[in-house]
Amino acid sequence: MIIIAGSASPELSARLAKHLKCQLVRPELRRFPDGEFYTRIGAELKGEHALVVQSTCHPQNDNLIELCFLLDAAKELGAARVTAVVPYLAYARQGKRFKPGEAISIHTVCKLIERAGADDLITIDVHHEEITRNFSVPAYNLTAMPLLGRYINGLKFKAPVVLGADKGASEHAKQVALEMGVDYDRLEKQRINAEKVVIQPKRLHVANRDVVIVDDIISTGGTIIEAAKVLRNQRAHSIYSACTHAVLAGKALQRIRSAGIRRVIATDTIEHQVSVVSVAPLIANAIH
Ligand code: R5P
Repeated sequence: MIIIAGSASPELSARLAKHLKCQLVRPELRRFPDGEFYTRIGAELKGEHALVVQSTCHPQNDNLIELCFLLDAAKELGAARVTAVVPYLAYARQGKRFKPGEAISIHTVCKLIERAGADDLITIDVHHEEITRNFSVPAYNLTAMPLLGRYINGLKFKAPVVLGADKGASEHAKQVALEMGVDYDRLEKQRINAEKVVIQPKRLHVANRDVVIVDDIISTGGTIIEAAKVLRNQRAHSIYSACTHAVLAGKALQRIRSAGIRRVIATDTIEHQVSVVSVAPLIANAIH
């Protein structure tokens, strides 16, 4: 087995190679003067199982095309099997057509990855599980939530409670909380009348407790900042947030900190300063 490290996932690739005790190859990646990519895998892959590890985070389109080039090159070098390890799959939130003529972007992305040469795919906490069914090759969605739970448990919070940022995140919150052996709930929007919407935890009280807001992705931070406002009004002791994918677009981290959220805890599906939990053992386990 050989790991091919894409430029968006250099650290994760190295950690994965260590876990799997296998060779790590850093491909030659350059740009031509006109901006086009030059990609070369300088390794013998004949008969090998090659894992191309590349998240398609920002710059999404560059990282996606690099992934496709690497998959194709691995196949051309005669790898017996090429696995696309795409810890963060871009465009996964664009899985529906709201207006006629709109591209369902994730469908195109899945076709590209498959046609480029992936024999199978591994991703993590993809925005909608059904996305894996777009592939005709085997596609596996793993969850990093228990790993996040284990890390957070080591932080020794005060009477911790885990909250899903919204209905979609409630299963994630449950998995984090089960690992920690603590309570979980989710935030719920309740419409009081035409003008008034109240957001509050569905069941639990958060006063004097450390709250961890969980989501799959933190992008602009808007969702957790709104949640934090509500929790502060309800006298939560401290507010933290945890997610698998630290997209953190633009000044999101700054805005999150200004909103009084003490810390963002994320995984290395996207390599960011807040990515303190590695998904390498999770991927290694799935490969085994
Ligand atoms: C939405 O359904 C996702 O699970 C996240 O809640 C959302 O993508 C977070 O985005 P933002 O940080 O921009 O609010």
